[in-house]
Amino acid sequence: MRLSIIGAGAVGTSCAHWAMVRGIAQEIVLFDIVPGLAQGKALDLAQSAPLFGFSGKIIGTEDFSFLEESEVVIITAGKPRTPGMSREDLLKINAEIVKSCAEKVSKYAPFSKVIVVSNPLDAMVYVTYRTTGFPKERVMGMAGVLDTARYRYFIAEALGVSPKDVQALVMGVHGDLMIPLVRLANVGGIPITELLPLDKIQEIVERTKFGGGEIVSLLKTGSAFTTPGLATIEMAESILKDEKRVLSCSVLLDGEYGISGVFLGVPVILGKRGVEKIIEIKLTEEERELLESCAKACKKLIDLLTL
Ligand code: NAI
Ligand code: 2OP
Repeated sequence: MRLSIIGAGAVGTSCAHWAMVRGIAQEIVLFDIVPGLAQGKALDLAQSAPLFGFSGKIIGTEDFSFLEESEVVIITAGKPRTPGMSREDLLKINAEIVKSCAEKVSKYAPFSKVIVVSNPLDAMVYVTYRTTGFPKERVMGMAGVLDTARYRYFIAEALGVSPKDVQALVMGVHGDLMIPLVRLANVGGIPITELLPLDKIQEIVERTKFGGGEIVSLLKTGSAFTTPGLATIEMAESILKDEKRVLSCSVLLDGEYGISGVFLGVPVILGKRGVEKIIEIKLTEEERELLESCAKACKKLIDLLTL
């Protein structure tokens, strides 16, 4: 089983690291266009194998023909944000980069499932979908797993409980309009509305929405990578092991939630065929309006693209 990761920067390397730790593929291949970068990162990772017992192979290369036979391809190539930038500011530059990666994926790995990470996420998944021509089940974006992890962590922190016991769902775009659902968030089955005052919940919701930006302003030279890498590997693992996890992923909506033609974060079942089912939950009027605003924002970005 081969897992390919395009872009050997911060997130790509984190993906490779977590993929090794989780042991989800016998072969992990890292790609970059910068000479030596992917090889150097792969060699460093490979040398950790004896210390924790990974017996698979990890390869770094600039030769994209190594994409052949990939079950899953992760695209992390592209520029990250710097302070003051929105994810949308990356649209034009990253669309070109992601398009060139997607062309290579369709050439060398025509049967793979593709997970896109590059920002602005929901638009970059669309670029990948259009460029590869793959069926919608095989093209998806990672954001909801990360945003939900942030939401869960902030809830756990506020209550002083284990983050493992917090369940929640963030839907919509990977941007300021994302929707951390309050009524579905719970701790060991207990709704958070019974455990936290509403103003604290609102504070957590806002912190979640701007969770990526908070890290960018602290790091100053790039964006988050450790949790984004693990969030991506959660998705890859569910596909590679056919786990049927229910995760929030950016997928093409085709009438679900009354929306068509854009990629948005919604709960889906991930298995060996990719996105095996989009779960349509009943939204309140307010949530439905928020999701429609996300769809409009995503459509606006897509309209700026020349594909
Ligand atoms: P980075 O700058 O550390 O790494 C990006 C890598 O892509 C670089 O090594 C660069 O050489 C490579 N690259 C550029 N063009 C390429 C091409 N045509 N083919 C192969 N490789 C190419 O950036 P980082 O921090 O890894 O972030 C990557 C992307 O992921 C950014 O767009 C960032 O905004 C996004 N991101 C998205 C998240 C999400 O939740 N969806 C979370 C975190 C980051
Ligand atoms: C994040 O949310 C930058 O999209 C990236 O951390």
